[in-house]
Amino acid sequence: MNRTTLGFIFTGMAYLMVGVGLGLYMAIDESARILGPVHAHANLVGFVTFNIFGIGYHILPRFRGRPLYSEGLAWVQFWAANIGLAGFLVFTATRIYWGVGSNQRAVFAALMALSFVLFVYNMGRTMIQVPPQQK
Ligand code: HEM
Ligand code: HEM
Repeated sequence: MNRTTLGFIFTGMAYLMVGVGLGLYMAIDESARILGPVHAHANLVGFVTFNIFGIGYHILPRFRGRPLYSEGLAWVQFWAANIGLAGFLVFTATRIYWGVGSNQRAVFAALMALSFVLFVYNMGRTMIQVPPQQK
């Protein structure tokens, strides 16, 4: 299992804890429900999507019978996704509580979106290769 897969699995677990912690806080204190978008992305991007990335990097090339197109690009994608999501969550919270950070959030959102594109590119190039037995 390579560092990108392990990285996404471990950060996914961490984000699940953050998301569940926020969910419990929101369940206990009604006034915290304004944090819905932070809770939603910690769980849905941080846990669900990051796990799909991590497991996908490990399993999909093996199913296809070819190595991943670029391990280096996968590692760049890991960092872009993590920095993007962390900034997105922080500035979504500052927008909610203090009404500031919209521009900063947009920058981190773009980084996160870029990381998704890198995943699609890398996995697309991996999948599109013709395995030897099918040549
Ligand atoms: C122990 C685990 C969890 C707790 C206690 C929890 C709690 C909550 C609460 C209290 C709300 C607000 C509901 C309302 O406004 O009436 C909420 C919304 C939401 N939760 Fe969770 N949640 C948990 C796990 C998850 C997970 C694992 C996911 C996704 C994989 C998730 C996705 C969402 C989404 C998308 C919303 C809607 C956010 C919004 O409307 O802004 N939650 N959750
Ligand atoms: C580049 C990636 C993404 C960006 C930049 C992004 C951005 C946003 C933004 C700006 C909102 C509105 C939040 C607000 O009102 O403050 C939103 C809502 C939402 N997004 Fe995303 N999102 C991304 C990926 C995803 C993914 C992958 C999922 C699910 C797997 C998801 C699920 C949701 C849900 C459920 C809401 C509604 C939450 C609510 O209103 O509380 N997003 N997203």
